[in-house]
Amino acid sequence: MSDADTELEARLEEQDSFEPPESFVEQANVSNPDIYEEFEENWPECWEAAADMLDWETEYDQTFDGSNPPFFEWFTGGELNASANCLDRHLDERGDEVAIEWVGEPTDEANRTYTYEDLHREVNEAAAALREMGVGEDDVVTMYMPMIPELPIAMLACARIGAPHSVVFAGFSADALATRMNAADSEYLITCDGYYRRGDPLDHLEKANEGLDNVEHDTETVVVERLPEDDAFDHDLRDDQRLWVDAVHAHKGAEVEPVARDAEDMLFLMYTSGTTGEPKGVKHTTGGYLSWAAWTSHAVLDIKPEDTYFCSADIGWITGHSYIVYGPLALGTTTMMYEGTPDHPERDRLWEIVEEYEATQLYTAPTAIRAFMKWGSEFPDQHDLSSLRLLGTVGEPINPRAWKWYYKHIGNEECPVVDTWWQTETGGMMVTTLPGVKEMKPGSAGPALPGIDAEIVDTTGEQVEPGRAGYLTIQKPWPGMLRTLYQNDERFVDEYWREYSDTDSDDWRDWTYFPEDGAKIDEDGYITVLGRVDDVINVSGHRLGTMEIESAIVGVEGVAEAAVVGGDHEMKGEAVYAYVITEDGYDGDEELRDAIIQGVEDGIGPIARPEQVIFTPELPKTRSGKIMRRLLEDIANGAELGDTSTLRNPDVVASIQEQVQK
Ligand code: WT7
Repeated sequence: MSDADTELEARLEEQDSFEPPESFVEQANVSNPDIYEEFEENWPECWEAAADMLDWETEYDQTFDGSNPPFFEWFTGGELNASANCLDRHLDERGDEVAIEWVGEPTDEANRTYTYEDLHREVNEAAAALREMGVGEDDVVTMYMPMIPELPIAMLACARIGAPHSVVFAGFSADALATRMNAADSEYLITCDGYYRRGDPLDHLEKANEGLDNVEHDTETVVVERLPEDDAFDHDLRDDQRLWVDAVHAHKGAEVEPVARDAEDMLFLMYTSGTTGEPKGVKHTTGGYLSWAAWTSHAVLDIKPEDTYFCSADIGWITGHSYIVYGPLALGTTTMMYEGTPDHPERDRLWEIVEEYEATQLYTAPTAIRAFMKWGSEFPDQHDLSSLRLLGTVGEPINPRAWKWYYKHIGNEECPVVDTWWQTETGGMMVTTLPGVKEMKPGSAGPALPGIDAEIVDTTGEQVEPGRAGYLTIQKPWPGMLRTLYQNDERFVDEYWREYSDTDSDDWRDWTYFPEDGAKIDEDGYITVLGRVDDVINVSGHRLGTMEIESAIVGVEGVAEAAVVGGDHEMKGEAVYAYVITEDGYDGDEELRDAIIQGVEDGIGPIARPEQVIFTPELPKTRSGKIMRRLLEDIANGAELGDTSTLRNPDVVASIQEQVQK
């Protein structure tokens, strides 16, 4: 490092707040600081600004309907179609402009560019194919696909005919696919033959087929061929399966009238992890969700039609739904899709893409930034990143060091960084700075967005003092919020509302949304999110339920009981620590350890793979028989342990501690 660099690093290290760059503010979509006050005074009508970002087939007659809490409705009476908003309405002015720029993992493969016209045509053909298969309005279509263009095409085709999609992340296991198809009674699956991961083709259809074997009802499958012939795997399609090319090409040139959907009609389902072993089917609607995705893309990501916007998330998670597909396309911009990982073939792959396509925004996860930081600034330094105007992060807390590295080495101190807190359930961003308005404080996501009423409270619901840890709550509804858990209203109330609401009240003001995150707030209203307070852990920005992992482990032969906790991890944020009791007091060995890891990969997927498996004859329990998870977390972190004498079995602690490798 040169002296000048060292000096700069030292200065950055001390600086704890950053003004938005002047050059950014001048051109920002939102730059009026009064927006916070205006939205507060004008709630809920302020959210008409979000609805106004869309084209409605029938105007809504009520902005917000809070008459049946917590089943809130937005823009009621309105009708619209999400695919028409993402495609048709851009055709006149922007038909020739690029909608999706797809980059495959192999560097010698041509990229695929879809203009709005191309995308419109392909979505129409796919919609016609789905209709012919019998997909009707409100039939849930499951997609189990990696980052290939047919995934957003299929999503938009479903939206066009009013069939909700349920996208299952391609890295999830066959079992996870089956669980989700069964839970949603989904009779249709769109998947693909395979894809590339770090140079190797993966056989995805085999995994999909294994999943289908465990689906309890009849299904029909469409298979996209992503792999070129040389790399393709040998598969015979089953009777209830057909190729995408055959299904879609039979409808060349077809036009499918977009179905007018009620604002409150379901646009999609997304399964996410919760406290119990059963994933939760988060239901999002057409009007509220789409307007939320569009408005936040406009206000926070500062997306303009002429941008080339790059979000490196996977469409299989909510980030990709809202901020690769729906938000950017609703605004008529160019959205990038990259199939591979940032380190293949070299650790500069992302920077190469940013340079080549002149990306204007980059939205990624802290775990990726920590990896970039570890690899070193020589990789971004090899490339011209001056096209970038804004940087974003999402998925987990970002430590100030990583934030500053991102700000300096990727943004050249010229791009605001938005640290965006939100969840699958919130549909879109909730807590973050408005990049053209607010100063940034590394490590703190920022104030709640205008019109969002966030409070940090204690267990009784009282607001805590600035600087003290408490629980994040959202006091007022917002358009992008989940409407319920699919076919499980009761669990919806229990999971998100019961904690802080007067559940007997008919007045929506008595209802408070609880996201199950810990947080603190400073004197300026900036919120630092501390992490989950339920039994959910966050591994590399991926949300995993410890109960789901435990049940996968307990299913392994030779295992009697298991407790899973998250331990701190330098790169992943958190990592999976599995404490396992074997059957018959048998000492665990390598073979059982491997079987447990395999069991987790089969049950959930490689992302949930335990970092460490610790065999123990007993788990530390309270006198009343509850497993002391806190203690297991402290042990995983090598932390000082408090008083353990109140345990029923204090002796086990030392023997467990010895086994944990630090
Ligand atoms: C959980 C939601 C949001 C889309 C991707 C993850 C954590 C998310 C932040 C942030 C601190 C964050 C929370 C939240 N989280 N963003 N900027 N700072 N924590 O969606 O899988 O539904 O997970 O991710 O704990 O509850 P998800």
